[in-house]
Amino acid sequence: MTVQISPSILSADFARLAEEAKAVDGADWLHVDVMDYHFVPNLTLGLPVVESLGKATDIPLDCHLMIEHPDRWAPAYVDAGASSVTFHAEAASAPVRTAREIRAKGARASMALNPGTPIEPYEDLLPELDMVLIMTIEPGFGGQPFLDVTLPKIRRTRALIEKHGLEIWLQVDGGVSAATIERCAEAGADVFVAGTAVYGAEDPAAAIRGLRAQAEAACAHPRAGGR
Ligand code: DX5
Ligand code: ZN
Repeated sequence: MTVQISPSILSADFARLAEEAKAVDGADWLHVDVMDYHFVPNLTLGLPVVESLGKATDIPLDCHLMIEHPDRWAPAYVDAGASSVTFHAEAASAPVRTAREIRAKGARASMALNPGTPIEPYEDLLPELDMVLIMTIEPGFGGQPFLDVTLPKIRRTRALIEKHGLEIWLQVDGGVSAATIERCAEAGADVFVAGTAVYGAEDPAAAIRGLRAQAEAACAHPRAGGR
């Protein structure tokens, strides 16, 4: 497993997004939270901003759609420049078709699960996906405390990925910080979204290096009771 860090621009200065992308030197992805005020009680940005941001940075965009009707909108985010598009299981009515459309346009397809949504009903869909995102908070806002109750699901998802011999990345999003990233890595996550922990730090690039080192060490030495 290769550890990847995806800083969330939700915690960045939205008036200076191009500069904020430059501040996260060393990031593997730039995590872009799209919220529609319906699927979640918050509103952020949409296609035009993703398109402009993609032109302003070389870091690939990891678009996390917290929106209703992702079946209709997800493929357009690939056209807008996203290299990975995540839709929510709770919002999608045709997840297989949506994942196939994302892939057909050349991006990575990913499905997200809220804390109360189990992975098991989606086991048969895993081959259609390049990544599963386990929300480690209720989506909608940055800066919320990490929910430990999601750790068993991270373990079960990793076990299902291994059972089927798939190369699916396992992303965690919400409350990921120096205090919590090791627990996520030990449970089987390999892609880590961090908003506050990166953009709230004095030196965001140094924060990324620190998080990566912690996750790599935890992956290499999983504690008993971990994976
Ligand atoms: C929240 C978003 C997250 C958010 C995480 O719904 O999906 O990506 O930016 O922020 P932190 O890392 O501060 O919890
Ligand atoms: Zn997110």
